[in-house]
Amino acid sequence: MAGLIRRAIAAGVSSASRSTAASFRYVVVRGMASEVQAQQVDLKAQDKTSLKTFSIYRWNPENPKKPELREYEIDLKECGPMVLDALIKIKNEMDPSLTFRRSCREGICGSCAMNIDGCNGLACLTKIAPSSSVGATTITPLPHMFVIKDLVVDMTNFYNQYKSIEPWLKRKSPPTEPGKEIRQSKKDRAKLDGMYECILCACCSTSCPSYWWNPETYLGPAALLHANRWISDSRDEYTKERLDAINDEFKLYRCHTILNCARACPKGLNPGKQITHIKQLQLGVGA
Ligand code: SF4
Ligand code: SF4
Ligand code: FES
Repeated sequence: MAGLIRRAIAAGVSSASRSTAASFRYVVVRGMASEVQAQQVDLKAQDKTSLKTFSIYRWNPENPKKPELREYEIDLKECGPMVLDALIKIKNEMDPSLTFRRSCREGICGSCAMNIDGCNGLACLTKIAPSSSVGATTITPLPHMFVIKDLVVDMTNFYNQYKSIEPWLKRKSPPTEPGKEIRQSKKDRAKLDGMYECILCACCSTSCPSYWWNPETYLGPAALLHANRWISDSRDEYTKERLDAINDEFKLYRCHTILNCARACPKGLNPGKQITHIKQLQLGVGA
């Protein structure tokens, strides 16, 4: 700014009238200068509002110190709109050691599940909160899971529980048309709505207090939703056996209908409702 003022005075002064002219020009230039100054302040303010801090859980098993939250500041104008975009930008441009899972980036594979500002969700479907609305966005792994590295958790127990409900069609009678599909009516097919859409992201199970306290013995909302999916399938002939297999104080009845699961599901499903359906069938009151 001083340079601007100096240049203008020197260009306009050459005679005895120098002092009046100079002071007039000085006022004009000062006016221009403060306008430019104001514009620059505006730009700086804009720049500031597009900067966003991400506070990310870091833990490396090869260098096992205490876990920590590490901060990264990125310019939102140079980043896509989703939390996964921010993570990819940080990994590509700032810290290649940052570790997280992702694949489809469109809410299909379920691999980018994590806890974002206190809520479980998919990083690829969660919009970055505007930098002006809240402070830093805090990203941690799914709660109450063993951490393998940074945001990657061990899903072994979760998948074993899914496997334990035998998530495939089971028949006793031979197919009426060998080699052909086993048909079901539109009405029976509609009974699977609200369950077949599950992508096994584990957002629900890891938001369930009962699952936190009994992760080994309680099957959790995701596995139970899938149990109900096969129990409700008109083509499956093992309904009774499936119901008997989970009729257990811990496997099923640790669910206390708190419904954190429905709140956490990024696909809008309601595992709590499906668990209630299983409990009704166990009591012989459901259809
Ligand atoms: S409804 Fe059942 S499964 Fe869902 S959060 Fe509550 S206890 Fe967990
Ligand atoms: S029910 Fe929803 S939250 Fe739970 S695993 Fe399936 S998609 Fe994820
Ligand atoms: S990357 Fe596949 S669900 Fe997010």
